[in-house]
Amino acid sequence: AREEEKAEEESSDLDSSDEEMDDSRMGNRRVEATNVSESKEPASSCQEKEVEEKKEMSEESGPARASSKKPSEPAIFISVDRLPEIQDSRLRLPVLAEEQVIMEAVRENSFVVLCGETGSGKTTQVPQFLYEAGYASGTGIIGVTEPRRVAAVSMSHRVAKEMNLVVSYQIRYEGNVTSDTKIKFMTDGVLLKEIQKDFLLQRYSVIIIDEAHERSVYTDILIGLLSRIVPLRNKKGLPMKLIVMSATLRVEDFTENRKLFPTPPPVIKVEARQFPVSVHFNKRTPLEDYTGEAEVHSVCRRLRRAFPFRRGNTATDYSDEMKKFKKAKHKRTVSLPRIDLDNYSALPVDEGDEDRLAGIDDEGSDLELGDDAADTEEKADPSLPLYVLPLYSLLAPEQQAKVFQPPPHGTRLCVVATNVAETSLTIPGIKYVVDCGRVKKRFYDRVTGVSSFKVSWTSQASANQRAGRSGRTEPGHCYRLYSSAVFGDFSLFSEAEITRRPVEDLVLQMKDLNIDKVVNFPFPTTPSAEALVAAEQLLVSLGALEEPPRTGRSPLQILYLTIPSSRLSCPISPLGRAMASFPVSPRYAKMLALGKQQDCLPYVIAVVAAMTVREIFEDLDRPAGSEDESSKLAQRRARLAQMRRLWAGQGASLLLGDLMVLLGAVGACEFAGCTLKFCEENGLRYKAMLEIRRLRGQLTNAVNSVCPEVGVFVDCKMAPPTESQVVCLRQIVLAGLGDHLARRVQQEELLDPKWRNGYKTPLLDEPVYIHPSSALFKTLPQFVVYQEVLETTKMYMRGVSAVEPEWVPQLLTQYCHFGSPLETPSPWLCASTGRVKCHCTSTFFRCGWQLPAIEMD
Ligand code: CDP
Ligand code: MG
Repeated sequence: AREEEKAEEESSDLDSSDEEMDDSRMGNRRVEATNVSESKEPASSCQEKEVEEKKEMSEESGPARASSKKPSEPAIFISVDRLPEIQDSRLRLPVLAEEQVIMEAVRENSFVVLCGETGSGKTTQVPQFLYEAGYASGTGIIGVTEPRRVAAVSMSHRVAKEMNLVVSYQIRYEGNVTSDTKIKFMTDGVLLKEIQKDFLLQRYSVIIIDEAHERSVYTDILIGLLSRIVPLRNKKGLPMKLIVMSATLRVEDFTENRKLFPTPPPVIKVEARQFPVSVHFNKRTPLEDYTGEAEVHSVCRRLRRAFPFRRGNTATDYSDEMKKFKKAKHKRTVSLPRIDLDNYSALPVDEGDEDRLAGIDDEGSDLELGDDAADTEEKADPSLPLYVLPLYSLLAPEQQAKVFQPPPHGTRLCVVATNVAETSLTIPGIKYVVDCGRVKKRFYDRVTGVSSFKVSWTSQASANQRAGRSGRTEPGHCYRLYSSAVFGDFSLFSEAEITRRPVEDLVLQMKDLNIDKVVNFPFPTTPSAEALVAAEQLLVSLGALEEPPRTGRSPLQILYLTIPSSRLSCPISPLGRAMASFPVSPRYAKMLALGKQQDCLPYVIAVVAAMTVREIFEDLDRPAGSEDESSKLAQRRARLAQMRRLWAGQGASLLLGDLMVLLGAVGACEFAGCTLKFCEENGLRYKAMLEIRRLRGQLTNAVNSVCPEVGVFVDCKMAPPTESQVVCLRQIVLAGLGDHLARRVQQEELLDPKWRNGYKTPLLDEPVYIHPSSALFKTLPQFVVYQEVLETTKMYMRGVSAVEPEWVPQLLTQYCHFGSPLETPSPWLCASTGRVKCHCTSTFFRCGWQLPAIEMD
């Protein structure tokens, strides 16, 4: 015990001297820290076995080690062979100054929260500290999760380079993990999947949850799960550590949440040096429908000439700067790679791991301009041409790596980035940030239950984070393409994703982890009880969860009544397990799970892929710029209408309605090789069609991995479905979209003329209609299911498909009431099954619609 006190004294000495330390002395400080760190023992005993052959004692640490050695714990220090220049740049990182404190906290506690400015070295250095302290020298390895794929890949490469060691990554279907892997970077979705296979995560001795401030749904769930897994591991004598790392944003959500951590975990703050950043606002208040495009255009125009901002420029306003620049008629021509704005808007949303979130649409939200400060000797000349690079999640890793390298000689680096550059990645030496203030986020419409992507203003915290990216190495400038008044209206923080989206898919994922009482789960931010109840209801009705015990009433009726939330604990069904492995929302997953019948799977995959992509048809209703354009638009509208009729087919296939049109469009487009020309000629969005193609591949893989015996493959020359297949497809669609059933209003019910040709839905009081462009506009079937309701001039159903009334009581038994068999006149004995059968009347209980009587046991 005396030895321990001594060690503590030593470290507190160091702590106090720490505060007086300035940056220039950090290098020396590091030497001291190394000595001490070598002298202390790592807490983890995962590595106790086989440790002898793996450890490598540092020579200088001998005496110190001996003095504080606890007899029961082997002392380990794994030395890492770093290049001198790497070592040099490491020493400049603020997190190095805290190594001692961090490792001490990790040794003493199972949970540690580490927060610090982006770029302070958390992601790249903390795994190295842990490695050096021996946390990967036993059977367990160090796991690091990232909400974004781009960060998982790029950070693994960076750490590998720094350590001269193989560091692996795993994202979706791609990775380079071997049995020798010691440090593994992965997306949070990947770790969640691993927990489904091994709840105790026995491969790992430490898990680092990185970028926790982003509050991605999977990160939130992981923290909740690990808050239970870690104590369980410790109890079983397999110690494990959890380190939650975050930028300096709202750490209280984790630390002050008693459900999550009964005793608050220690919080270590890393102070980073931040240079002042001058923020310049646009004078004009942008319009409501501002997309940033005009502003980006104007920035690009300027970039194509030359960059007017000079070092030390004291410009106070972006538009002033513009005027000055225009006056100067600065017409120097420089050879610049063109920024293709179509590509800019094609930047995908970087909202975390899309593993399970198929159908991510696109658009970037941030634009950074910077120049190369790695090359500090040669000050960047503002007249030098720009070397423009894109940066977003789905970019190939070699392309991503380019932004971290110095640009070609005689150029300045300009990075056009999505919000991946906001916190996940620190691009060295950024001096100017141009912030469009927008973010593209997933929104959930409670009425239709469908999520969508919308571009909206970001939060003040995010905008400030973006600005801060420019002050890393010297004073910087941030040009905001919006006014200060607009900034004042931004919300302070971005909401946690979990409160903004439907939760049925994550409830299903959690049930798949056998977490039956989702309401009791320690979420850092709990979704509303209303959202959880709705999710559970839907999953029961899809058959993904076992029905709660019957108490005379229909199970859904029980759920509808106010019941104690503890009753919401239906376990997952075998069908639910299959559904949980498809990366689409449960309604569509149900369709995939049923798709095997009559070889319908390729069609179901194509339809689900097309429904998941927001809009596959080009917007031809946009206002035309000129008369010429207007006549061209009219021509294309006519052509699209003609193609829609063609794709919808006739007779039986027409009843599949708009989904048949989707299927026809995908089939025809693939048949033509999915070319831009075909899409343009036929009013299809090329990008949507490419996305559908990618999704079909992904869904096909997922289906094959769930049931390999099906052996489905992506067929680019898909023949149209036969009549019986169309019937089967319609039933599959009904089974998936059962809660979106609508019934045509009968003539005798027409109390109000507005209900003419209208449909009634169980949840809406107002009528909904079939859109004139729908394949079923003239047919007006008695029952339909729809994909979503979209409100424009009227409430229109989209993705409408006709339903035969007798299918409803058969396929949607969960939603139906059945009359008592005693009321039916003549039961009969079925010769083949030996069961007594009878006809039962049925009603769609939510609204009491009469349905045909069906045969029942
Ligand atoms: O995680 P945190 O934001 O605290 O910092 P980090 O990602 O560990 O980055 C630390 C430093 O490494 C930054 O200054 C980056 O510029 C640098 N870095 C780099 O040069 N190349 C990479 N591929 C990744 C990081
Ligand atoms: Mg980081």
